[in-house]
Amino acid sequence: MEGGRYVEAVSDATFTLAAGECLALVGESGCGKSVLASALLGLLPANAETAGSARLADGLDVLAADERTLARTVRGRRVGLVPQSPAAHLTPVRTIRSHLEETVRELAGRTRARTRARTRGGAALRDAARAAAERAAFPATHLDRYPHELSGGLAQRAATALALVGDAPLLLADEPTTGLDRDLVHRTVDELRSHTREAGRALLMITHDLAAAERIADTVAVMYAGRIVEITPAAAFFGASGPRHPYARGLLDALPERAFTPVPGAPPELGALPPGCAFAARCARADATCRAQRPPLLEGVACHHA
Ligand SMILES: Nc1ncnc2c1ncn2[C@@H]1O[C@H](COP(=O)(O)OP(=O)(O)O)[C@@H](O)[C@H]1O
Ligand SMILES: [Mg+2]
Repeated sequence: MEGGRYVEAVSDATFTLAAGECLALVGESGCGKSVLASALLGLLPANAETAGSARLADGLDVLAADERTLARTVRGRRVGLVPQSPAAHLTPVRTIRSHLEETVRELAGRTRARTRARTRGGAALRDAARAAAERAAFPATHLDRYPHELSGGLAQRAATALALVGDAPLLLADEPTTGLDRDLVHRTVDELRSHTREAGRALLMITHDLAAAERIADTVAVMYAGRIVEITPAAAFFGASGPRHPYARGLLDALPERAFTPVPGAPPELGALPPGCAFAARCARADATCRAQRPPLLEGVACHHA
């Protein structure tokens, strides 16, 4: 619901993500990427309606699971998250070290009393926390800082460290490179890639940084106005043939190292989607069919002219 209206924020989002693979979900701001991530964590607002299913490797359907199951066994355990606004997800009164150590402790099912700082368990816990910080390029010198003492880029890296230490088999990383310099973007992306590939975890990487997507993804899904309009192997997407959907081609052409031409116009309001293809108003190839009929996703692309 948006302003009392019913909004179809995400629909037709069909994909499979295998262990060891990274799917990059790209698309303009407001197209529904974070809503999709929230759905996969069972974190949609209480008044949200869902249809279909979202099955984890063990068969659990997250969309049908009850809150207790989600809280105890899904969030942070089977599905990890690097949230889009990390600062909002950190507890203001706890240091980053405390966040990391608490996560390790919780996952090990241990209580604070049984893991005193000076015991061997305590040392292992501190090491795990430090190692995760290091992997996320979070400086050890800042571990005892509180969230409000961190810049946006540092809070981002703290959130990535927390997700890495959490070690869930499926990780959702929602714009995890926001506010980072190019070299840190590369470092974060490479770390997430090895986290995924080497240990057979799955990664859904949400990003509007196509260069980051190219570096990490096995598959690219392009979202437009709440729908996946193209899903294609990264090698094809970034290769000579390129994507097939005009919007996906437009995203690539907007890159400075390519044509540097932004897609003209703006996406439609989700509450007032046109009857046909949602991209028709911005598409040079659109005709009467496009304006009348919504193209289904066939062989990885939703376009009447692909
Ligand atoms: N709780 C909500 N109530 C109403 N509309 C929402 C809610 N959450 C998201 N939306 C709408 O859903 C659309 C997609 O949002 P979002 O998934 O955050 O986009 P993205 O992550 O791709 O930038 C936006 O138009 C947003 O306004
Ligand atoms: Mg978002």
